Amino acid sequence: MYRIKTSDHLQGSVTMSGSKNATLPILAACILVRGKVVLHNVPKIGDVMTFLSIIETLGGIYDFNGNTLALDTSNLDIVHINADMIKKIRASILLLSPILHWFGSIEIPFPWGCNLGKRPIDAHLSGLSRIGYTYTQSEKSIAISGKALDWDIELDAGFWVTSTENLIVANVLRKWCSTIHLSAIEPHVMNLIDFLRAAGANIKIRYNHTIVIEGVDSLKNEFDFEIISDYIESGTFMIIGALLSEEYLDIHHARIDDLYAYMDKMRRAGVRIDVIGEDSVRVYRAQELCKVDIQTNIFPWFPTDLQSPFAVLLTQAEGVSKIHEIMFEGRLNFLVELDKMRGHTAILNPHEALIFGKTPLRGALVTSWDLRAGVAMVIAGLLAKWETLVTNIEYIERGYENFVKKLQSLGALIEVVKE
Ligand code: EPZ
Repeated sequence: MYRIKTSDHLQGSVTMSGSKNATLPILAACILVRGKVVLHNVPKIGDVMTFLSIIETLGGIYDFNGNTLALDTSNLDIVHINADMIKKIRASILLLSPILHWFGSIEIPFPWGCNLGKRPIDAHLSGLSRIGYTYTQSEKSIAISGKALDWDIELDAGFWVTSTENLIVANVLRKWCSTIHLSAIEPHVMNLIDFLRAAGANIKIRYNHTIVIEGVDSLKNEFDFEIISDYIESGTFMIIGALLSEEYLDIHHARIDDLYAYMDKMRRAGVRIDVIGEDSVRVYRAQELCKVDIQTNIFPWFPTDLQSPFAVLLTQAEGVSKIHEIMFEGRLNFLVELDKMRGHTAILNPHEALIFGKTPLRGALVTSWDLRAGVAMVIAGLLAKWETLVTNIEYIERGYENFVKKLQSLGALIEVVKE
């Protein structure tokens, strides 16, 4: 667990790590490439290490030096696939398409990950069956097999991120035209598309969330690729700058272009954010914050993955702010932890909550409900008077690289202690 003391005079600058949600689908796509790929700017975080361990059980070999990952997926076999590891992360669902392409069948346990609500996989399964595969699904597992169809097809991804990524990978080597409607266009989906194009895939993106893939015979099997930096981590440190900096905090590799809607809400709340370089921002400590209402949605709207940290900012804003969490029906539950710190929140229904401010927070023993809610509790702990203990930190370490070290480098009083 983390032991945290009030730290609201942070100073300095911080550089964002590579994107978790770009790295995971690209690792899955390395199974389709079946070769020797060198990835740069790969974050050394729990989910990436779990995914690499799964690829190792398939016969993959990797060397992770700093943030450079050399991955050899030339000789794979699915006999030793490890179900327990697969259960640990939601992104395991991305194994379906590359393994189906090379092995024609796969059975995996239902991949869990963060408990954000129902998290169905119907868009993945209906898309794969449109391609020609058949599946059976039980409480515990999914079994899919068959051969991809030999003609042009149209399908839709439901605007969801991992279903879009799965359906792209499923069609790159299918030598027909595939049109995927209602595709997600999150930055990490685009990074996956750039990765596949670097391997020789023929992928076009239309303005209306439609992706058109002309299947190719084969892909390059030796090349290098750069992972984008993490815009969710950047948004998280913008809140840290606004609430906890002595005067301001500089953030580098900030993915400014991916955070327009988010930065707009920050500015409406009263946060000054200056662009100080090609992809760097200076976030000033907010003297006064005013209430704003937020509604999460698909990219490029306000990202659901920044909703929990933003709720902490709203506890310091004058007035009553409303959060409308459209994407998940379980992502507001963590607010009970803020109430333990004398925050004043009210969950109206699974998708809506009110945050009453300005409320001085007090240290307490709190827990991480999921990856983003865990980080929100750390920010609340740094802001609160007295000491805060945050448990379930493995959630946080699944998605944020060197989070404690980065905070300590800014002067934060946070340390890892035995539970
Ligand atoms: C991706 O999850 C991200 N994970 C999530 O980030 C992110 O919160 C989410 O997209 C939304 O942006 C990765 O990229 C690895 P979902 P994904 O759980 O695509 C509905 C983080 O903190 N849905 O599928 O797996 C579902 O009900 C994580 O980094 C269907 O209805 O998202 C939910 O409302 C958490 N049918 C929404 O989509 C489907 O088949 C997103 O859910 C699939 C999804």
